Amino acid sequence: MRRILTGIQPSGKLHWGNYFGAIRNMVTLQNAGEEMFMFIANFHAMTTVRDGETLRRATRDVVLDYLACGIDPERTVLYRQSDLPEVQELAWYLSCLCPMGLLERCHSYKDKMAHGFDATHGLFAYPVLMAADILIMNADLVPVGKDQKQHLEVTRDLAQKFNNAYGEIFKLPDAYIPETVATIPGTDGQKMSKSYHNTIELFEDAKAIKKKVMGIVTDSRTMEEPKDPEGNAIYNLYKLFATEAETAEMAGNFRKGGYGYGSAKKELLAAYHRMFDPFRAKREELAKDMDYIEDVLAEGARKARAAAAPAMEQARKAVGL
Ligand code: ADP
Ligand code: TRP
Repeated sequence: MRRILTGIQPSGKLHWGNYFGAIRNMVTLQNAGEEMFMFIANFHAMTTVRDGETLRRATRDVVLDYLACGIDPERTVLYRQSDLPEVQELAWYLSCLCPMGLLERCHSYKDKMAHGFDATHGLFAYPVLMAADILIMNADLVPVGKDQKQHLEVTRDLAQKFNNAYGEIFKLPDAYIPETVATIPGTDGQKMSKSYHNTIELFEDAKAIKKKVMGIVTDSRTMEEPKDPEGNAIYNLYKLFATEAETAEMAGNFRKGGYGYGSAKKELLAAYHRMFDPFRAKREELAKDMDYIEDVLAEGARKARAAAAPAMEQARKAVGL
């Protein structure tokens, strides 16, 4: 059994790309009996969210989304980053060993600067806090998107520096970036991403979802013309929700001709609902009982603090506190 940990920033509503690119994978690992830790990175979100109510609501929404999609709090320790304040303490220890140059090289920081974010210390030190999240739990594997690969390298670097200075305390974690996960296209055919405004959210209302699906950009070929399904966003999205036989049928229809994009979009919408209606119903139920959500998070916090205690105790002693 491996210890698997990942963090999710509560910024923005989760979309189809997040589900097929990340969430589904976590549910699979959980169901395979791995030792799972998932947390809502609300400290990290403060680097870009400047409104308390927004942050609180987004944090709650992410918890509801994950539970609705099949994260089971009996099998996965689900907690809020801020409920484990020890990570801030460990982040300081790591900061004191972290060369400026290591952070200056981070693409995500440079990227944020290029997008006009304020150059704050929080944004700059983001990878140090992320390293603390991971090392405090002694995680073996960290499932993340490709964009986080460099942050995992920073984490390993900092673990190594700490171990060199103070003795072998931290395990060097590996990033887990499943290459098999295809890039999920958005409504304009580019990668689905909240930065591109081309997302279809997992739990937005049914009308809005219909509008977005029916609005997926297509070329101007007429209904009669045969079409190549590969590279077609509707088909590539349909594949995610449909069975192999259904997928083959749609491919055949496209190739034959006499099958329009409108019909394909309707099939895609129906397939989404077949898979997601049970999750939607569960989310609605969960949202009615916020005490339950708070209980889940309180229990998650208790387990997370217990799991972090041994490494933290060793680290404190080692640094001389
Ligand atoms: P966004 O691009 O919308 O900002 P994030 O970067 O927050 O999404 O991604 C969170 C997780 O979802 C990451 O693990 C990422 O790899 C995955 N993910 C996001 N968009 C896609 C996509 N279009 N296809 C596959 N995986 C995705
Ligand atoms: N930086 C990650 C992201 O934006 C979120 C995150 C914070 C995280 N701490 C982490 C992910 C620790 C994995 C492990 O996606």
